[in-house]
Amino acid sequence: MKVNILGIDIGGSGVKGALVNSETGDLEGERLRLPTPQPSTPQAVAQTVAAIVSHFAYSGPIGVGVPSLVINGVTKTAANIDHSWINYAARDALAQATGCAVTLLNDADAAGVAEMQFGAGRGERGVVMIFTLGTGIGSCMFVNGHLVPNLELGHIYLPGHRQDAEFYASDRARKEEELGWKKWATRLTEYLQYIEALFSPELLILGGGVSKKHEKFFPYLRVQARLLPAQLRNEAGIVGAAVAAWQEATGKT
Ligand code: BGC
Repeated sequence: MKVNILGIDIGGSGVKGALVNSETGDLEGERLRLPTPQPSTPQAVAQTVAAIVSHFAYSGPIGVGVPSLVINGVTKTAANIDHSWINYAARDALAQATGCAVTLLNDADAAGVAEMQFGAGRGERGVVMIFTLGTGIGSCMFVNGHLVPNLELGHIYLPGHRQDAEFYASDRARKEEELGWKKWATRLTEYLQYIEALFSPELLILGGGVSKKHEKFFPYLRVQARLLPAQLRNEAGIVGAAVAAWQEATGKT
């Protein structure tokens, strides 16, 4: 049965929401993007999420992706959002602010769920890893189609480095340091080869907004695994959050 589920993606600069067709993963109608309140406290962001829910006059279950490690509805870290998200009972707070049942998950996990269900990872078995390249580096892993949540591999240190890998190899690093495609791809190769040494994935899927320009940097990447650009791009977080909510609502997790 086709149902429209509201998926919401909380980011450092924008909170985006759209109704998602549970059967096809397509957005139904327009996506709404509101600026992330500054400071991005959970209370302020919950009001923005509530505004999105009202905009769509929606009352069903919602899926929400957040750039934080999430365990049982509690956000445990905060890399690109206000630090008051650390150890915050975010799922309950969002449920209270919106009146909706909330499925809360890491934003990269949400993007991965979408890619596996409707995008480049459809039908893929074995160890598949998906990275979202944006302000940070989001990461997720699927083993025979099952999500291993909360990997947070944007924060590992590469051998010989003294900072989080996402400061070195994210799309933000490319833009801020004005790196050319080849130079950035060399950094990304260093990162992905280290990931390969740790996890031996069979398939690597690279997402985030920059993946729409994959032909500019894929030719310079050197990895063992099969490499694919994400298909859902910027909408992946919204779609995956909605899929996760639908799976929870229907008990198909
Ligand atoms: C956060 C992750 C998030 C990623 C992409 C990282 O800085 O720690 O939770 O998935 O950025 O937004």
